[in-house]
Amino acid sequence: LPPELTQLVLDNLREIPDFPEPGVLFRDITPLLSNGEAFANLIDGLAAHYRGHIDAVAGLESRGFILAAPLAVHLGIGMVTVRKAGKLPGPVLGVDYALEYGTARMELRPETVREGSRVLVIDDVLATGGTAAASISLLEQAGARVEAICMLLELAGLGGREKLAGRSIDSVVVFE
Ligand code: PRP
Ligand code: MG
Repeated sequence: LPPELTQLVLDNLREIPDFPEPGVLFRDITPLLSNGEAFANLIDGLAAHYRGHIDAVAGLESRGFILAAPLAVHLGIGMVTVRKAGKLPGPVLGVDYALEYGTARMELRPETVREGSRVLVIDDVLATGGTAAASISLLEQAGARVEAICMLLELAGLGGREKLAGRSIDSVVVFE
């Protein structure tokens, strides 16, 4: 990814200590989204990078949707919604994954994926990788080829990259 995109995101982040709980440094992307020029430049830059290489954009609910929708429209291709449990009408595929406490589940309507289509998976943050790994598994079960994975922020050290072992991940900003 172009280094200008990294700077663009860094310039428009806000860091909030002790949110949502003590000891956690939350990286907030709302300043980036509310800056119309920065948001447009981010989407333009991502579109230029992926144009011609992908047939659909898969957004991971919820914050991934914010990025996937404008990118898909910009590229003139479809958007696939990988959603949290119970939101999509059937038939759906589902994958459960572990959280720090308990489990979560992502779901996908396989009818929204064309067999063999090249899909870009996009989300705002890669942390433990649970959300992305479950979503990739769903897309592949539905017949997609996961061609690229794009994360606005990667929190290295939480094991996300390892969980997605062997896949290339385009992270706009990596925090060690
Ligand atoms: C956050 C973030 C990623 C995910 C990353 O989503 O938006 O989707 O966690 O964590 P992981 O790599 O450990 O799976 P969250 O479930 O908080 O919900 P939201 O997108 O609906 O805000
Ligand atoms: Mg999320």
